Amino acid sequence: MAKLKVLVTRRWPAEVEGQLGALFDVTLNESDEAMSQQALAAAMAEYDVLCPTVSDKIDAEVIAGGDRVKLIANYGVGFDHIDLAAARAKGIAVTNTPGVLTDATADIAMTLLLMAARRAGEGERELRAGQWSGWRPTHLIGSALKGKVLGCVGFGRIAIATARRAHHGFGMKIAFYGRRPCDPAMAEELQAEFCADLKQLLGKADFVSLHVPGGAETANMIDADAIAAMRPGSYLINTARGGVVDNQALAAALKSGHLAGAGLDVYPAEPAVPECLLGLENAVLLPHLGSANAQTRIAMGMCALANVEAFANGAQLPNTVA
Ligand code: DGY
Repeated sequence: MAKLKVLVTRRWPAEVEGQLGALFDVTLNESDEAMSQQALAAAMAEYDVLCPTVSDKIDAEVIAGGDRVKLIANYGVGFDHIDLAAARAKGIAVTNTPGVLTDATADIAMTLLLMAARRAGEGERELRAGQWSGWRPTHLIGSALKGKVLGCVGFGRIAIATARRAHHGFGMKIAFYGRRPCDPAMAEELQAEFCADLKQLLGKADFVSLHVPGGAETANMIDADAIAAMRPGSYLINTARGGVVDNQALAAALKSGHLAGAGLDVYPAEPAVPECLLGLENAVLLPHLGSANAQTRIAMGMCALANVEAFANGAQLPNTVA
């Protein structure tokens, strides 16, 4: 039987590319440059399986590009870059890679939280610029974490992993806003307080960490009003999706001092970073590093591969989202 034709849109860890190549007729993107919308659309007619990632916009026009692709096996947990309705309408299955990047992303949320609280980016920039004049009691004073409230917006896997680190590792108190209370054992473990209303959470958190999926439902969820509801001197951490935050409103709050700092890993139109944030010393800005450790990136690839293998074998897909 002919091997499935599989297109991988960006470079994956070598271990995973090797295994894919052994099993399927795989086309790799040797240059690792983002593919154009036209090339992605053309691929829909040429391949059986498309393996995109967050930097590919798989919109209705791309999906309309051809009828051959029957599986979109996304490398990544988020899938707001894929038009699920358009995929469904054409009978295309869509899978993602949940679970395997939970710890890595929670680690980055804590990295951002610590960097913002302790002004690490500012300090490093000052030192590298040769402007550090030496230790003094009032130099680059940040905030402690112990006893402060971490407010999680959304309380799925990554939020819980972040809350565990913050509570057990740093002595923070946990509150969260979500569709429903978490399971009682988790609430007990983290002594987590459920807020049924977003503004209620924002008003009590010293650090707000975002953990909701991207897409229309959460677009600009943290807008000027929401930011105004945050505590004066508090911090915003975003490892979710850039579109969840109105970055102009965030920049204004960082400039005015209403917010003490922010730590961001994601932006609405990556790789563009909103101009308004670039000059702000109290904004820590990372280039979407949430899942970027070797072990996690291999695990993500293996998870996507497991979905392609299941598809090839006519088995149930382990991680279907559409
Ligand atoms: C995802 O998986 O959705 C992340 O944003 C990239 O790892």
